[in-house]
Amino acid sequence: MAYAAGVDVGSTQTKAVIICEDGNIVSRALIDTGANVVKAAEKAFLLALNDGNVREEEVSYVIGTGYGRYKVTFGNTQITEISCHGRGAVKMFPGTRTVLDMGGQDTKAISVSEAGEIVDFCMNDKCAAGTGRFLGAASMALDIPLDDLGPTALNSQKPVKISTTCTVFAETEVLSWLGKGKKIQDILMGVHKSIASRSVSLLRRVGISEEITFTGGVAKNTGMIQVLNETLEKKMNVSEDSHFMGALGAALFALDHIVASRNPIKVTA
Ligand SMILES: Nc1ncnc2c1ncn2[C@@H]1O[C@H](COP(=O)(O)OP(=O)(O)OP(=O)(O)O)[C@@H](O)[C@H]1O
Ligand SMILES: [Mg+2]
Repeated sequence: MAYAAGVDVGSTQTKAVIICEDGNIVSRALIDTGANVVKAAEKAFLLALNDGNVREEEVSYVIGTGYGRYKVTFGNTQITEISCHGRGAVKMFPGTRTVLDMGGQDTKAISVSEAGEIVDFCMNDKCAAGTGRFLGAASMALDIPLDDLGPTALNSQKPVKISTTCTVFAETEVLSWLGKGKKIQDILMGVHKSIASRSVSLLRRVGISEEITFTGGVAKNTGMIQVLNETLEKKMNVSEDSHFMGALGAALFALDHIVASRNPIKVTA
């Protein structure tokens, strides 16, 4: 049995996925990227090997993706995360024509073809105000774990209007609303709405299709899913494996390579 692997070294978290020859996920691993990016890639891959009871020599091809893809020193090649999120999303939800990837530092809107190829994409500018980092700043300021941000926001009755467009000032604004006696859930709902409206603007730039798939770590946030669905007036696809979509796409490209090397195209004179 040959396996293929994808390692998505993101700015915030590193994800590894191993798939078998039918393209199904055998195992996955998720860790914080931290300061040592090479180590994070190695560790995530080893954890995925252990999780699936797979030996390293059984993995025939490994592709690195994400901002740290060139740090996957044991990998065979690299592919951008835009391509990998597109490929992973179409594998999970074949009707996908638009992908929204919200990670720690970047938010990307991607338009894809039926085959999962990239038609167009657009990402947030240098500012991280529409990304997971903005949520991270709110989580720190309010001392609420990331997992609880969305569920807490969903209890809001009167969301505040967050006006800052800068993550650096997000903490100050959140604290100033607290000082004015606003409820935590209302401040958090304001933060979610502000991020959702920026993301929907990005999606409009590539075109909002019939079927949108939400990927990246922020897709674990139930509050963000609900606010985005309300803003878009449609229900996005969200899989249990949304966070692993880039790594899955990379693994699928790695599997293509394994299959192609078995069936080389014959060039006739
Ligand atoms: N369980 C969770 N609940 C809510 N949010 C979460 C959870 N886990 C991760 N996140 C969010 O996901 C973000 C990380 O997502 P992801 O791993 O896709 O980013 P990344 O790939 O490292 O970043 P980028 O693609 O921008 O380089 C975190 O910043 C956090 O906001
Ligand atoms: Mg990412």
